Amino acid sequence: MNIDIELIQESKIDKVDFNNLAFGRVFSDHMLVCDFKDGEWKTPKIMPYGPMTFEPSARVFHYGQAVFEGMKAYKDDNDDVFLFRPDENFHRINKSGERLAMPPVPENVFMEGLKKLLEIDGAWIKKGFGNSLYIRPFIIASEGAISASPAEEYKFIIICSPAQSYYAGEVRVLFAEKYSRSADGGVGFAKAAGNYAAQFYPTSLAHKEGYQQIVWTDANTHEYLEEAGTMNVFFRIGNKLITAPTNDRILDGVTRKSIIQLANDYNIDIEVRRVSVTEIKEAARKGELKEIFGSGTAAVINPIKGFKHQDETFELPDMEDSYATFFKEKLLGIQYNKLEDKHNWRMKI
Ligand code: COI
Repeated sequence: MNIDIELIQESKIDKVDFNNLAFGRVFSDHMLVCDFKDGEWKTPKIMPYGPMTFEPSARVFHYGQAVFEGMKAYKDDNDDVFLFRPDENFHRINKSGERLAMPPVPENVFMEGLKKLLEIDGAWIKKGFGNSLYIRPFIIASEGAISASPAEEYKFIIICSPAQSYYAGEVRVLFAEKYSRSADGGVGFAKAAGNYAAQFYPTSLAHKEGYQQIVWTDANTHEYLEEAGTMNVFFRIGNKLITAPTNDRILDGVTRKSIIQLANDYNIDIEVRRVSVTEIKEAARKGELKEIFGSGTAAVINPIKGFKHQDETFELPDMEDSYATFFKEKLLGIQYNKLEDKHNWRMKI
């Protein structure tokens, strides 16, 4: 596949403090841009990362026709670079796009474009557990026209940001009682930009109460726990791990499905089924709720230290042999090419 390449004059990499990175604030030298026009995707371009020009009438600004992905590139001790299950992200961005009436990005534009971008910006991927280059592919409706209908012009863009951890401190959550993230038949399963915007207000209310995230419940009854918006969620009762099944309200997380597979590989008792607020609160009261943790590409595996529902607050015990730590070690081991990859999840660049 042809890719037009325009390289930067001077890298800004020396100005970056890689030991002190807030998530998603610094971007690598280049980005990939591919235009969809006249019914086809044009030749992708790799160009210096920087501001772009859009008409104020671009439909993405008015109707939120925007979907994205989150991926990471990892570097091992030999300076080899790996992606983790990139095929999952490729399929999911097009599944999300289909729901928002957007044209699918061709596989070679996504995969070959991304590989080339990582070759060019490879110095931005730092070695060491916890260091990665966070990759944000996204598609937006760029056509300038404001009738409420799907655009005829789009841009597929990939930007990259060196990353360490997503959450800086301990995470406590509210179980949603009033607001909803998604509903049956809606776009909850899609990585649609608007799903995230819709969470900002209720999450800002949660912040004011000292909680970092909301665990969303089903919109009909607010009784079944679904996902945390930036993470899928796992509950450990005794030695059993439980996570909600995916459906049209819940994002089909790549980290989530990898944990389920790893649980099966290591004979950890895991149930994928509906999990209710009542069940979790009762288990917590009896001391049987051992852990809650979230999973996601950005967050990796993040323990949740406590939760609140109605007027009750619960703290989770400190576990020496926590599943969160176990799965994180296994997952990072595979991602950083330190453990056997028996499911062929790693892709070498
Ligand atoms: C990811 O984990 O990659 C996500 O897309 C979540 C985002 C809110 C950072």
